[in-house]
Amino acid sequence: MSDRPLLNRRLEGHGSTIFAEMSALAVRTGAINLGQGFPDTDGPESVREAAVRALRDGRGNQYPPGPGIPELRTAVTEHQQRFYGLNFDPDTEVLVTAGATEAIAASMLALLEPGDEVIAFEPFYDSYAASIAMAGATRVPLTLRAPGFRPDLEALRDAITPRTRLLLLNSPHNPTGMVLTQEEATAIAALAVERDLLVVTDEVYEHLVFDGEHTPLISLPGMRDRTVSISSSGKTFSFTGWKVGWVTASAALVAAVRTAKQYLTYVSAGPFQYAVAEALRLPDGYFTEFREDLRAKRAILGDGLAEAGFQVFRPQGTYFITTDITALGEKDGIPFCLGLPERCGVVAVPTAVFYDDPDAGRSHVRFAFCKQPNVLAEAVTRLKGATLRA
Ligand SMILES: Cc1ncc(COP(=O)(O)O)c(C=O)c1O
Repeated sequence: MSDRPLLNRRLEGHGSTIFAEMSALAVRTGAINLGQGFPDTDGPESVREAAVRALRDGRGNQYPPGPGIPELRTAVTEHQQRFYGLNFDPDTEVLVTAGATEAIAASMLALLEPGDEVIAFEPFYDSYAASIAMAGATRVPLTLRAPGFRPDLEALRDAITPRTRLLLLNSPHNPTGMVLTQEEATAIAALAVERDLLVVTDEVYEHLVFDGEHTPLISLPGMRDRTVSISSSGKTFSFTGWKVGWVTASAALVAAVRTAKQYLTYVSAGPFQYAVAEALRLPDGYFTEFREDLRAKRAILGDGLAEAGFQVFRPQGTYFITTDITALGEKDGIPFCLGLPERCGVVAVPTAVFYDDPDAGRSHVRFAFCKQPNVLAEAVTRLKGATLRA
């Protein structure tokens, strides 16, 4: 074999994801896993039953249609109408994907040329950097800084160059919990229009906004034909293993993204698509209860972390809390998180790994609160009982 590295240059440095690493650590040490963002209870029984019914009835057991089953595409359009007053054509303006992750990757592969620049909030959700890299494009960070993690709109304007092709935006934002205000979203949209940029929005936490409200950028003036809006059932319905996501966008953008998507997975999750179509039609009460349940969990973990001595940046949305460990006499989240399972049986994620400039998040540690209240309470007891101070 030649000395040439097996992994191509574009993916160098994108080894294993921090989530896989920390989840493996949780399993190895038997610690409570507040690292990876998956719930420890499944979503609604009726939705699970819908998947079983589809499997038994032979719906979706063979390749579903490339853009997704019509029932799900229609349910996605109804959801966009119900929550945001947005109208999409289920035949041409919706694409079902293998989770939001595939939608993001397909969007990057479809819309970017090598050398294009993509501006994204830093800390980045980790698949963004890899997807941009696979497309041969360059990521340009717009750093969200504690304590508020607000986007600096002047810095955004300055970051736009003639090579900037698109903005890859995530609100509610993982890991900081920042939710764009209507004013911020409007200002970003105006800039995208002014500079003729495409915008790809990752809205997987759209139903987890505790303070403020979710504004899809595609709903703002001038954005309908330049925005690829992405969401997914994993977070909203607590079935992260099903990997059913979707894109809503103009027919031209959907056609472009579909071109890349069809050669990635072609299709996926046949029977689950039927179940998610039912999930999207759940009454408003489901979505409200889901949010209020997570709001209560935010309080349990947030208060507990503060009592344990962390500086807590209370999230406006998502199911993550970012903390600062400086108050514990610690400086670096990476060794802190690697040692935490041994010290007290809890796993968390150092957010420095989501920055191009790790110093910007060196002392930040993220905890997930999508766990049962007794699990969160036990994690808090362990964190308070441990000698965390360096
Ligand atoms: C911001 C963000 N986008 C996308 C995803 C992945 O979504 P999916 O499981 O639908 O691929 C996650 C999961 O943690 C996320 O936090």
